[in-house]
Amino acid sequence: MELIKSETYNNLAKAFAGETMARTRYEFIEYGARKEGYKTLAEIIDTVAYQEFNHARMLYTFLQKAKEGKIDNVDICSGYPFKQKWDLTDNLLFASEDEASEANDIYPKFAQIAEAEGFNEIGLLFKQLAGVEESHRALFMQLHEHLKNGTLYERNCDVVWKCADCGYEAKSHAPWEICPLCKAKKGAVLIDLCTC
Ligand SMILES: [Fe+2]
Ligand SMILES: [Fe+2]
Repeated sequence: MELIKSETYNNLAKAFAGETMARTRYEFIEYGARKEGYKTLAEIIDTVAYQEFNHARMLYTFLQKAKEGKIDNVDICSGYPFKQKWDLTDNLLFASEDEASEANDIYPKFAQIAEAEGFNEIGLLFKQLAGVEESHRALFMQLHEHLKNGTLYERNCDVVWKCADCGYEAKSHAPWEICPLCKAKKGAVLIDLCTC
């Protein structure tokens, strides 16, 4: 089967649209985190946004292989989430839900279709993307729970907290409000994601 005539071709376009939207939604979250002074949280979100960009890039590359010349248009009919408003804690939960649907539903289905149509390389891409989206789901849920419970900077064991601005570090259950060395606010402390 020719890729351009397959359902997989359309699924690549749908997934590309989904990844590019996810990237933008995460930049909304990053923007909100920075506005609220969560500098290092914003950087974690920024890393995920960049990963979504790379997912989009890989999908786009496969899409381009379907045709020699330029692809003027791909008609897709698909639904996408528009849940997020401007509450940081809620937005992290919504991001986690959206990642779950990519990881458990959308990409496994796309992988199955790609393999059935004989596009094993694309099937593998969808499977590998599903694995990454599952790790994004877990990360967003962990961050959501921390914000909801006020435990972003509280652990049950001693961990090393480090100021991203100056590198000062100290071992404790919780970090400083103001960095003893450079006076940066707590939002500049690197977030420890251990589960103790
Ligand atoms: Fe992604
Ligand atoms: Fe993701």
